[in-house]
Amino acid sequence: PLETRCPPYHLRQHGGFWFSEPFLPAVAAARARFEARPSDVLLASFPKSGTTWLKALAIATLHRADHPPRSLDHPLRRRNPHDCVETRDSGDDVLAALPSPRLLATHLPYTHVPKSVTTEGAGCKIVYVCRDPKDALVSKWLFTKKRLAFAAVDDSPPKPYTIDEMFELFCDGRCTCGPQWHHVLGYWEASRRQPEKVLFLRYEEMLRDPVGNVRKLAEFMGCAFSVEEEAAGVAEEVVELCSMDTLKNMEVNKNGTQNHVRNEAFFRKGVAGDWSNHMTPEMAARLDKIVEDALRGSGFAFGATAESA
Ligand code: A3P
Repeated sequence: PLETRCPPYHLRQHGGFWFSEPFLPAVAAARARFEARPSDVLLASFPKSGTTWLKALAIATLHRADHPPRSLDHPLRRRNPHDCVETRDSGDDVLAALPSPRLLATHLPYTHVPKSVTTEGAGCKIVYVCRDPKDALVSKWLFTKKRLAFAAVDDSPPKPYTIDEMFELFCDGRCTCGPQWHHVLGYWEASRRQPEKVLFLRYEEMLRDPVGNVRKLAEFMGCAFSVEEEAAGVAEEVVELCSMDTLKNMEVNKNGTQNHVRNEAFFRKGVAGDWSNHMTPEMAARLDKIVEDALRGSGFAFGATAESA
């Protein structure tokens, strides 16, 4: 079948979402074992929704006292944002040894994150970034092509999906952590139930008002910008350090790899609406309808601003 032609090959449905099968035992183990600290901040996203950007912003914001955004030896100038944040792959011992506050990241749906993270009255903070499904799909398609080209070490690399093939799989929810709209909805509902625990950001809103969103992020993480910092333009400096232009042109992000993907693959266009250069209006209308039907009655809609949703 189509979904077994390219990595991650063997997808299996679990609790309403699709996962790479070999990955499932580790998800279950982390769910049972991981111990969240109240000071932890978990950065969550569906793949290709602005994870790299959110990680950079959170690192620069949380650690600005030790690492002013303009300092020439800032961690983000030496390491790719993905390298500055811990994930399940870091291993139990590494996670346990990290000083607080820890910045962690996941692509898991809300229902699958470690139990200790979402425990009512305990747990830790979560920041989620959501993106229009059409842009996430196109970004994923182009990223997968790059990934396959890079991973192609033998003479018969898997043939990358065409946009039509990827579209069919995506519409069916058959992609890692899909369906995308259910992934988004899970976190959105959690943010409505517990706004002090879950901050729900939108990629498109972050593009429109990056400084406003960084202020929101800082306040949520418990490190709001002080009057002095505001006067000195520190929030603007964080945004500048983490901008697409700055990160993309750093030596560390032009070279090096992440999970067999070149760092440069994480920085492409970084705009809203690029789907229209790759999908037909008919495809867009079909996906919009699937999403609209799935979300009907939930109160959530893509495209609405955080304030109006
Ligand atoms: P495009 O492929 O549409 O350009 P993720 O980090 O979750 O993998 O998402 C990748 C998407 O975020 C890509 O979108 C990428 O270009 C964009 N992106 C990466 N860094 C960014 C930044 N600093 N500012 C805005 N967008 C960024």
